[in-house]
Amino acid sequence: MPYAKIIGSGGYLPPRVVSNDQLAADLATRNIETSDSWIVSRTGIQQRHIVDPGVTTSQLATKAAQAALEDAGISASQLDLIIVATSTPDFIFPSTACLVQANLGNQGAAAFDVQAVCSGFVYALTTAEAFIKAGRAKTALVIGAEVFSGILDWSDRGTCVLFGDGAGAMVLQASEEPGIIGAQLRADGSQKDVLCTAGNVSHGQVVGDPFLRMDGQAVFKLAVTSLTKSAQEVCDEAGVSLQDIDWMVPHQANIRIINFLGRKLGLDTEKVVVTVDQHANTSAASVPLAFDVARRDGRIKSGDLVMLQGVGGGFTWGSVLVRM
Ligand code: ACO
Repeated sequence: MPYAKIIGSGGYLPPRVVSNDQLAADLATRNIETSDSWIVSRTGIQQRHIVDPGVTTSQLATKAAQAALEDAGISASQLDLIIVATSTPDFIFPSTACLVQANLGNQGAAAFDVQAVCSGFVYALTTAEAFIKAGRAKTALVIGAEVFSGILDWSDRGTCVLFGDGAGAMVLQASEEPGIIGAQLRADGSQKDVLCTAGNVSHGQVVGDPFLRMDGQAVFKLAVTSLTKSAQEVCDEAGVSLQDIDWMVPHQANIRIINFLGRKLGLDTEKVVVTVDQHANTSAASVPLAFDVARRDGRIKSGDLVMLQGVGGGFTWGSVLVRM
């Protein structure tokens, strides 16, 4: 059975950078109080990228995909599978993956979206790996892309300071060399209320709450517990030790979750890739964006063992272990 090998990656962040100070000044005009020091001390976030009005998830996804295809040295016509992980699709339908396919000029690939919120990318990556292993696809494009700024309640300081917009992508190809060597996806729907955007469109109207709501402390505890267990189990299944991991690329929600996780797993802090300070939480885009940053700056190299981890609404989580 072939492995799914990562042969390229790319990222795209909208050009408008909003610092904590700029955000605090903007919120102050509406009598909402926050500060750079509160945001940095609780989350590690210093800034986020936010789209201009009218910019959509498929546009960000297409730019990240083009960067990943260029990095892989292949053309869009070679793709036979396109999966987009997003919770902020352009439309209810067609899928964002179909919009990206049209933008790239690909014809004939299977294209669909995966919705697992901040775990979306590891869900999509594991799905693409299964297609490749089963012989149902040879060359897959996997994207995580979000315009979370569109579902934030900008009067809720407990959530609006946490997120940003962006997209990250990987190209996978069937190969005799590893490859993804381990993966695990998990969910616990009984925790659906800790992080949700519970609205819908029906009969021409928004029904329910269209904004993201979160029980931050519950999310913190669930994230640390689930990711610790998952990392250990995936390593055990793959027959490697946690100490063999060269790079950990966790979901970028909060530096305190990332540091807590690293400590529980006994990983050196230098082995953990962190972009939450610059990107904030870009949900499904966070893992491929962080991976791409560390590949392009030369940290992640051929032969390295890399663990990717996602966690988020659902409640969902998962881990993917990759030999580069
Ligand atoms: N600026 C200033 N004060 C604030 C802000 C803000 N932006 N947000 C909340 N506060 C205030 C609250 O109103 C509260 O004030 P009070 O004591 O007067 O009532 C106080 O700070 C404490 O509020 P908490 O919500 O209890 O703050 P907490 O210490 O839990 O920190 C945080 C909140 C950072 C969200 C924390 O719960 C956390 O790290 N959670 C992890 C979840 C997370 O990072 N989620 C991101 C998305 S989920 C995901 O991607 C998996």
